[in-house]
Amino acid sequence: MRILLASSNDHKKSEFSRLLPEFDIVTPKDLNIAFNPNESGSSFIENAIIKAKDLYDKVHLPVLSDDSGLCIDSLGGKPGVHTARFGDDEFPDGKLTQRDRNLLILVKMKGIEKRSAHFVCALCLYFSPYRIYLTQEETVGIITECEKGENGFGYDPIFFIEEMGKCYAELTGEEKDALSHRGKAIRSMRKLIKEDIDA
Ligand code: IMP
Repeated sequence: MRILLASSNDHKKSEFSRLLPEFDIVTPKDLNIAFNPNESGSSFIENAIIKAKDLYDKVHLPVLSDDSGLCIDSLGGKPGVHTARFGDDEFPDGKLTQRDRNLLILVKMKGIEKRSAHFVCALCLYFSPYRIYLTQEETVGIITECEKGENGFGYDPIFFIEEMGKCYAELTGEEKDALSHRGKAIRSMRKLIKEDIDA
């Protein structure tokens, strides 16, 4: 069975393909569908619903969306829902690379002792306007003082998991799935749907 993933992020696509091996995960890009939702929500769940509904309204097929982000305690929970665009307000003329964004976080955190953070993942499985499943999970970690590891994507090189003694970017895909915000949110989604079907 096919699941339409409301994302243009190839890294998310490969994580979902790993987490949902029994499904064929396709993105709007794979199907040549324009997808550029206005992520105007003030929470991860709101944005996940916006993305899923935007794509569902175009295709009228079941859609899975993911809205995720990094919340850093010493930065008052920032970048939070603005994680994908972190730093754009300070550098409006140039398009920041992901590496620039990671380094900008490290600069802002320089000298700060309290480095606790969490990664959040909100999922919306949108079967129809009358059948929508939502889950949200998080994984706690620590912002490193320098980048570590080559795996994964996004902020993985600066997000350290104490129990593993490694950054997300130093984990294999399977190790990351076992404890990541996205892995947990998918497992909660599976449980929710099973409970609904069994009820
Ligand atoms: P979204 O695509 O609007 O949900 O934005 C998510 C932001 O969080 C992007 O900047 C991603 O790179 C980042 N992000 C989400 N999940 C992860 C992850 O598992 N590792 C590292 N960065 C992530």
